[in-house]
Amino acid sequence: MAKTARSAAHRGFPTDFLTVDALSPAQLTRVLATAAKGKQNRRFAARALAGTSTVMLFEKPSLRTRVSFEVGITRLGGHALFYDHSKERIGDRESAPDYGRNLERFCDLIVARVYEQRVLQQLAANCEIPVINALSNEHHPCQALADVLTITEHLGGVAGRAVAYVGDGNNVALSLAQAVVMLGGHMVVVTPRGYALGGEDASAVRGLVQGKGSFTATTDLDALSGVDVIYTDAWVSMHHEDAAKRLKAFKPYQVNSAMMAKAGGAIFMHCLPSERGVEVTADVIDGPASVVFDQAENRLHAQNAIILHLMGKA
Ligand code: CP
Ligand code: NVA
Repeated sequence: MAKTARSAAHRGFPTDFLTVDALSPAQLTRVLATAAKGKQNRRFAARALAGTSTVMLFEKPSLRTRVSFEVGITRLGGHALFYDHSKERIGDRESAPDYGRNLERFCDLIVARVYEQRVLQQLAANCEIPVINALSNEHHPCQALADVLTITEHLGGVAGRAVAYVGDGNNVALSLAQAVVMLGGHMVVVTPRGYALGGEDASAVRGLVQGKGSFTATTDLDALSGVDVIYTDAWVSMHHEDAAKRLKAFKPYQVNSAMMAKAGGAIFMHCLPSERGVEVTADVIDGPASVVFDQAENRLHAQNAIILHLMGKA
């Protein structure tokens, strides 16, 4: 359902940010430019959200997302309210559409971390205020914005770069793949058999490829030769219940110094939290190629930028 009045598209900008491909490649590039400006100047857009309130609905735990949104919104002069939804799912006590219809009467923006993407869609379709996906089982678009900002800072851009994601074909992998190919990069997703991105998701990513970019999905670790980035995430996500089976299947896909040597000069990325000695060894994540805390910092700058664009303030 299209939104109409207050939050309706500003200069063609989408009304909500539920997936990376809600943006066009040109809009994604503009958001990254705004993020870079905000990073350079702590006072950037310091009053842009004055008089506004954001509700942060979280069904799952968080360190980076919660703190970076709350601090980021404060830097933009706004007020953020954290609503802990870990004890029950949105929809249990009251339907997701009714959440949207109520919250738009008090608030100017919804940031939600949920299990099901469907809940975000229902919220977004039933309120006039923007909704931002702060992670769902399927997508993690704010993480991907921070990641491509980090790649740009370290490698000068994403276009023409080979970004390899190794491990579980999960929410982080899907959003990263969308962002990388939209910016003209080469995305390589290397997973064990049975843990690739879903078929529909993979073909949707292929459909987003720009310029000379490409998308490759494989189980073959030789695909990591010569890549510019090696990225991994936890093998067991917050919504997974089959930990023992996963830990066994993923063992050969651990990022360690031998894998980094195969890439030869790649930077190492991880969205965090990470378990050292499981998906990545301590010498890699704590070593000189690791940019994981730059990624964490960039969450704030990337999120402030998307907020400013969604709210028509950039
Ligand atoms: N990377 C990330 O989203 O971290 P949190 O789960 O701590 O928010
Ligand atoms: N894939 C992880 C990301 C955590 C930031 C999860 O969904 O738990």
